[in-house]
Amino acid sequence: MSDPLEQGCAPSECGTKPACAGCSHNHNAAQPPQEKEKPHVRKVIGVVSGKGGVGKSLVSGELAVMLRRMGYRVGVLDADITGPSIPRMFGIHEKAFGDGEHIFPAETESGIRVMSINLMLENDDSPVIWRGPVIAGAVKQFWEDVSWGELDVMVIDMPPGTGDVPLTVFQSIPLDGVVVVSTPQDLVGMIVRKAVNMASMMKIPVLGLVENMSYALCPDCGKRIELFGKSRIAQEAAELSLPVLAQLPFDEKAAELCDEGSIETVENPLMADAAAAVSAMIKL
Ligand SMILES: Nc1ncnc2c1ncn2[C@@H]1O[C@H](COP(=O)(O)OP(=O)(O)O)[C@@H](O)[C@H]1O
Ligand SMILES: [Mg+2]
Ligand SMILES: [Zn+2]
Repeated sequence: MSDPLEQGCAPSECGTKPACAGCSHNHNAAQPPQEKEKPHVRKVIGVVSGKGGVGKSLVSGELAVMLRRMGYRVGVLDADITGPSIPRMFGIHEKAFGDGEHIFPAETESGIRVMSINLMLENDDSPVIWRGPVIAGAVKQFWEDVSWGELDVMVIDMPPGTGDVPLTVFQSIPLDGVVVVSTPQDLVGMIVRKAVNMASMMKIPVLGLVENMSYALCPDCGKRIELFGKSRIAQEAAELSLPVLAQLPFDEKAAELCDEGSIETVENPLMADAAAAVSAMIKL
């Protein structure tokens, strides 16, 4: 007996790949392929970054909040399995509810549905030390097996970086577009380009760039202070033919709201504009 994986498909997924045409599985077997119910999500936006700690989760959270305020039914899938920070941001402390057959997402005060590994773990603080394929498998299950209900848009806080894990997650979820988050220093080391290239390799449209912690506002006079010198994001975006969706300042208040779980009360016109732009781009 030959190994079905060698044929390019497993029996459970047979018929889904070009290689299935030549495989040894019986496509006309009496038993129809198990038709898994696809999540009813109209559009999916991935939030990515070339490295960790740039504010990807904050941008994911605020983007979801702003889309919700626009009246959309919004979900957030926390795909950053080793650094999950979405539940805390939304003040979600309860665990995911399951009835043996389905897992249900948690729901925030404003009605955003959230799923995260933190809702599955007994102890929020225990680090997840799984290997790449297991992480990707967990994300895939969050996408396929969670009872999301009807959603207009899902925001996915993707794993950071451009390594194996983000790549595998990219492959397992049908993204309609990605938002690339970076800080001013990232432009120096090609980090933004790597993230953009990964998306293009997967043929996923890059909706635009968000430069986070781009500048600070003087607390006394409101003057804009460019801590890292003049921003290069506009030039970089032009070279990549991508829009700059937002340049966000250091925002102590927003960081505080994240810490205390009240991101849904955030005021951020820049992110509101970015959300409006993104929703138009993906024809939400
Ligand atoms: N614009 C900002 N101003 C102030 N603090 C920020 C800003 N963006 C992010 N932070 C804080 O920086 C830390 C890292 O942000 P986070 O969104 O968790 O990054 P990532 O998901 O990319 O690792 C968090 O404590 C967050 O609250
Ligand atoms: Mg994060
Ligand atoms: Zn000043």
